[in-house]
Amino acid sequence: MKIGIFYGSTTGNTANAANAIKNELKSAGEVNLQSISETDVSTLADYDLIILGTSTWGLGEIQDDWAGKESLDGTDLTGKKVAIFGTGDQYSYGETFVDAIGILARSAQQAGAILVGKWPSEGYDFSESTALDGSHFVGLALDDDNQASMTAERIKKWSEQLKGEI
Ligand SMILES: Cc1cc2nc3c(=O)[nH]c(=O)nc-3n(C[C@H](O)[C@H](O)[C@H](O)COP(=O)(O)O)c2cc1C
Repeated sequence: MKIGIFYGSTTGNTANAANAIKNELKSAGEVNLQSISETDVSTLADYDLIILGTSTWGLGEIQDDWAGKESLDGTDLTGKKVAIFGTGDQYSYGETFVDAIGILARSAQQAGAILVGKWPSEGYDFSESTALDGSHFVGLALDDDNQASMTAERIKKWSEQLKGEI
């Protein structure tokens, strides 16, 4: 199983999460970890499981390294499994919490991907997020600004969940 993790990160939180996810998934296959700034999105289709990570900036905007790539450039991901993770700040940005997860999820679905790795929204305190689908986020939501002590455990659980979904 070829697993590709691609992320954008400004202050390092999403990069750290990407590394931790890589460690958790090593047992499931060959894992390639790369910043999206160094990635040609057409290469995403080379992987069996594609994991996309981003923080949210501005008010609900995708992290800068994703600029111009967030639509996945019309890459055909038909039948590919895609999982999304992201970092945000639920207290300072409670109306746009991890919105960029939603941006990537919509692009992946438009590219034909099967989304895996939905994550329950219990245990967070925010008012709005476009990353929500009912009671679940469409990917793993992390908050290192307010709930840093929960990040490692969330990543561990989510990675186990992914192994079960692939
Ligand atoms: C100016 C600014 C704007 C932000 N906007 C949002 C936002 O709209 N939604 C959100 O969930 N987090 C927001 N955040 C929080 C970041 O996403 C969070 O700190 C994240 O962990 C940064 O990850 P990175 O270091 O990987 O870029 C914002 C932070 C700053 C400083």
